[in-house]
Amino acid sequence: MSEFAEIILDGKSYQMPVVEGTENEKAIDISSLRAQSGYVTLDSGYKNTGATTSEITFLDGEQGILHYRGYPIEQLAEKSSFIEVAYLLIYGSLPTQQELDDFSNKIRLHTLVNEDMRKILDGFPSAAHPMGILSALISSLTAFYPESLNPNQSKDEVDLSIIRLMAKMPTIAAWSYKNSIGHPVNYPKNKLDYCSNFLHMMFAYPTEEYELNPVVVDALNKLLILHADHEQNCSTSTVRLVGSANASLYSSVSAGIGALWGPLHGGANQAVIEMLEQIKADGGDSKKFIAKAKDKDDPFRLMGFGHRVYKNFDPRARIIKKATDEVLTALGINDPILDIAKELEEAALNDSYFVERKLYPNVDFYSGIIYRAIGIPTDMFTVMFALGRLPGWIAQWKEMRENKEPIGRPRQIYTGETKRDYVPVEKR
Ligand code: SDX
Repeated sequence: MSEFAEIILDGKSYQMPVVEGTENEKAIDISSLRAQSGYVTLDSGYKNTGATTSEITFLDGEQGILHYRGYPIEQLAEKSSFIEVAYLLIYGSLPTQQELDDFSNKIRLHTLVNEDMRKILDGFPSAAHPMGILSALISSLTAFYPESLNPNQSKDEVDLSIIRLMAKMPTIAAWSYKNSIGHPVNYPKNKLDYCSNFLHMMFAYPTEEYELNPVVVDALNKLLILHADHEQNCSTSTVRLVGSANASLYSSVSAGIGALWGPLHGGANQAVIEMLEQIKADGGDSKKFIAKAKDKDDPFRLMGFGHRVYKNFDPRARIIKKATDEVLTALGINDPILDIAKELEEAALNDSYFVERKLYPNVDFYSGIIYRAIGIPTDMFTVMFALGRLPGWIAQWKEMRENKEPIGRPRQIYTGETKRDYVPVEKR
């Protein structure tokens, strides 16, 4: 491997060091480029630019590989729990039984939110999108825990902020759903595990307990594990950028929720179901919609297909597709949009437009079908993505702060008007 990259500019030669990661990824460190040459690099959408080094998640888009702290997600999805994976991502190693019990129990003790939060929640119109509510209420945690604003919190204080966020996000998410349907909220039951507690808060009624189905609880655990981190995606990069300004964990995660909401990112799982419903309502002709997706003059995109990094099958999509079949069979559900999804996948994987562009189903293509089978409404799907991604956001924010990374401030190339004098309005 070369130790340096030589860049020749205006007849002068500059040497930039080459760095290599533990999985043989290579990069040219250009941090001294501007000081040496006056040049900066330009890379719209950061498609070829590494923002940082990280020890948390490794993915290989060509091979369809995804590891959390070195552990393949296939093994974690099969054998671990979401809380154990959250501990792994945040603290870097699989917990001992004692560490896992402590982490779990601390989270259970912080699931309640301040009752004043219900007043904020009541202020939202019932049609408010739950992602907007979630972002606002997570940011409001800075008001209930102002000590979290201190950028020099001790390790214990940061750990408490982490516990509070992991514990309260499911409560806030479930309460935003109950608020949107005008039902009374459910309080957390600390004897339940993380996923069971969330399902209880989502679906119990004052008149009727929610009956926990182990198939559903297992499917939710799996889905949250598969969404838990994904290196420097749009929302995680947002969390790191906001946090690099010494903004609090709560305000950094609130910003990440806003980024995830975008339909090109985490909002795609809602857009996939809306797309499948649209195809079903239109008569179910998947070939017609494949043609629309290929038509440059048609804004229609095959939502849930394509990925910035995966140029092979998204490994998460494989696991979720299998879990979808298992959950629907176990629940005795025959969802016609699953058949449409499979037809679309089959057609796209055999169509040169998608094959040439290496467009495969991504994590969002099947996840909505499971959420729907569980009874989660479509506009809550991206909230489910946020619940899963939370430990990843926390881990990445914590790593950036512990590494004392500088405030993020990209450069630009100005292409606007050159200097000109002000012209009074009467002379314009
Ligand atoms: C997530 O980054 C992450 O890790 C994200 C994520 C995570 O875990 O955090 O994995 C979660 O966000 C998954 C992606 C969910 N989004 C969608 O499913 C929306 C549909 N997909 C796309 O809009 C698109 O594929 C992106 C946004 C995901 C990726 O876009 P890129 O990398 O910027 O690629 P591009 O838009 O430049 O597309 C390349 C070509 C273009 O055609 P040409 O101009 O070369 O002719 O592929 C076409 C695009 O038009 N294309 C599609 C398409 N996706 C890309 N054409 C039809 N349908 C699609 N879905």
